[in-house]
Amino acid sequence: MKINKLSKLYGIGVGPGDPELLTLKAYRILKEVDMIVAPKSREDKRSLALLTIEKIIKERENELIVVEPVFPMTKDQEKLDYYWKKAREEVLEKGKGCETMAFVTLGDPSMYSTFYRFLEIFKDAVDGVEVIPGVTSFSSCSSIAKVPIAEGNEVVSIVPDVKGNKNAVQVIQSSDSLIFLKPKNTEKIENMLGNKKAILGVKVGFKDQEMFIGKLSEIKEKTHYLATLIVKKEEEE
Ligand SMILES: C[S@@+](CC[C@H](N)C(=O)[O-])C[C@H]1O[C@@H](n2cnc3c(N)ncnc32)[C@H](O)[C@@H]1O
Repeated sequence: MKINKLSKLYGIGVGPGDPELLTLKAYRILKEVDMIVAPKSREDKRSLALLTIEKIIKERENELIVVEPVFPMTKDQEKLDYYWKKAREEVLEKGKGCETMAFVTLGDPSMYSTFYRFLEIFKDAVDGVEVIPGVTSFSSCSSIAKVPIAEGNEVVSIVPDVKGNKNAVQVIQSSDSLIFLKPKNTEKIENMLGNKKAILGVKVGFKDQEMFIGKLSEIKEKTHYLATLIVKKEEEE
């Protein structure tokens, strides 16, 4: 396929879900770009990043192309190659004639987001790249709970998957504060750390947000997807 090169690709962090937690810079760019690309995990799902900026899209008066390619959550490389190729083709096809494009991502683009993967498969099709930071899910959780993640010289670690990283257990044992993304089993975390102070934010910033502030043992549901768990070691049972 002949590439129509874009002059600028923006990687935009739209924050955790609350539309008001968007930077002014992100707002301005989202009002101006020719195309918005919003990744979603499944064909039958909506992009949560797109949901977050829905109002801005409705407010726009100039023409806008919106593309929602599927970036599945899988480790199957063959499947990933297939979907990334498909996403590239879809964006190039629908973006013909566009000069600027924004790739939107929940939270911050530097934190476990698909933006840098997208950039990898798309870098030959753009002249310039700019990344706009966003409010992370964990800073939003700590703000709602009014509990600092770390103070003084405390060490804080982010654990995306306890099983998937060989350093995870050592990191969990040596950090003062821990941020678990998509916590898979809060009971196991309690077994490792004891009954510590915990902040659990589920769908933070969205209409059906749930917040829990208490002890690890008090968390009823053990597994959550759009959830962030902050555990502070300082407090003993
Ligand atoms: C692929 S990571 C993306 C992180 C994101 N880039 C950030 O800066 O927060 C997805 C994980 O982030 C966390 N997350 C993102 N948005 C969230 C929200 N609105 N509420 C709670 N957790 C969220 C969840 O742990 C989720 O499984």
